[in-house]
Amino acid sequence: MSIISIIKKKCQKNELTNDEIKFFVKCTVDGCIDQCQIGAMLMALYLNDLTNAEVCNMTTAMANSGKILKFRSSAIVVDKHSTGGVGDKVSIPLVPALSAVQEDFIIPMVSGRGLEFTGGTLDKLESIPGFSAFSFDDQQLLDIGNNFGCFIVGSDDLSPADSVLYKARDVTATVDNAGLIIASIISKKAAAGIKYLILDLKVGSASFFRSIDEAKTFGQQFVLVAKLMGIECRALMTRMSAPIGNYVGNSLEILESINCLKGKGPSDLQTLIELIGGHLLEMTHKVRSVNEGRKRMAQSLNNGTALEKFKQMLIELRVDEQIADELCYGNTTSVLPMAKFVIEIKSSTSGYVNDIDGMTIAKVCNKLGAGRQFSNQAIDPAVGVRLLVKKGDHVEIDTVCMVLYHNETDLNESYLILLQQSIELMTEIVEPENIVLGVIDCN
Ligand code: URA
Repeated sequence: MSIISIIKKKCQKNELTNDEIKFFVKCTVDGCIDQCQIGAMLMALYLNDLTNAEVCNMTTAMANSGKILKFRSSAIVVDKHSTGGVGDKVSIPLVPALSAVQEDFIIPMVSGRGLEFTGGTLDKLESIPGFSAFSFDDQQLLDIGNNFGCFIVGSDDLSPADSVLYKARDVTATVDNAGLIIASIISKKAAAGIKYLILDLKVGSASFFRSIDEAKTFGQQFVLVAKLMGIECRALMTRMSAPIGNYVGNSLEILESINCLKGKGPSDLQTLIELIGGHLLEMTHKVRSVNEGRKRMAQSLNNGTALEKFKQMLIELRVDEQIADELCYGNTTSVLPMAKFVIEIKSSTSGYVNDIDGMTIAKVCNKLGAGRQFSNQAIDPAVGVRLLVKKGDHVEIDTVCMVLYHNETDLNESYLILLQQSIELMTEIVEPENIVLGVIDCN
């Protein structure tokens, strides 16, 4: 078997066998393959698409390319994955809230950094002093999972083939292929030992999927491949145009997550947390209905148990106890990096807020340092935006709609205009919309 013959076979649109895929994946980790051959193979897969069998074989080979976490057998190992949105800090309150609700769950969330316009959960958590996402080996993760019940970290030990392939996809224009994305995500979930998974499938102008049809096709293939990999998965298609919650930016989203863990979060964020937790509790037969699960999630956010679990999780992940305590129960903003400059952005007309363009807000924040223009770039955790209006609100001329937090001594005025224009006003009343656009189960 040779890499050249495998590339040629896929170029001729023939389905690859399991052995051929295993050989390719093994070579990417062993290093016995040229970078240009990885690029050629990825392009052949990208242009001709992967069959379901190829996606499963690729996922299995990638999952087996590194460490596999095997938690104690009595635990129910659950997780969620979001396809990425603006202001999406859901995982940060969700993980401790769900863990506080269900002690026999293990939630081993291996998360990522920001990608394009989406903020990364790890970037947000790393705005907490002392939080270092990639500091735990597989044995330490097993111990924290088994003894404490949850964590949110990064790991290079799980699916190392994905690290190689992801970097190559990024520079060969082969990122946006459903089969490659599914293999990438599910290989990491399988390696983390996940048995139940919710996919938060974002749909709308501030997400990778612009239409319900596109999202549905992806979601159906995702839940099928997950099932074939032994993971029970449900995809929730959720609306993503306006940012989730009222804050965008790394430090600011930690602040909002803590408010939410105190039961004082914005309603869209709280709804997503309750829903995802509710579905996981229902899928694992811990409750009879998603609504019953939602109530249990709301209780943990309101009675302090979720907040205490979050504080303890930070300590497990080596954040200093005093810092974790001050962050959760003291003066939160005294712990987090905060911007030097604050500018109010006012409405230029009056009307009802019809939409808020999350994509524009994310791009402005990224340009000001909240995200990366190239990999490994340092980010500014303090940069971000606070929204003071939500869809449906009525605003008058000169109402402060948004606040920009930044560290530029000479701010380019065009950013302020873009932010002002990101709020779309209408003369007619705007009705609220459901967050959930559909559910995809694997039956
Ligand atoms: N997230 C991943 O982990 N992999 C992809 O390919 C895309 C998003």
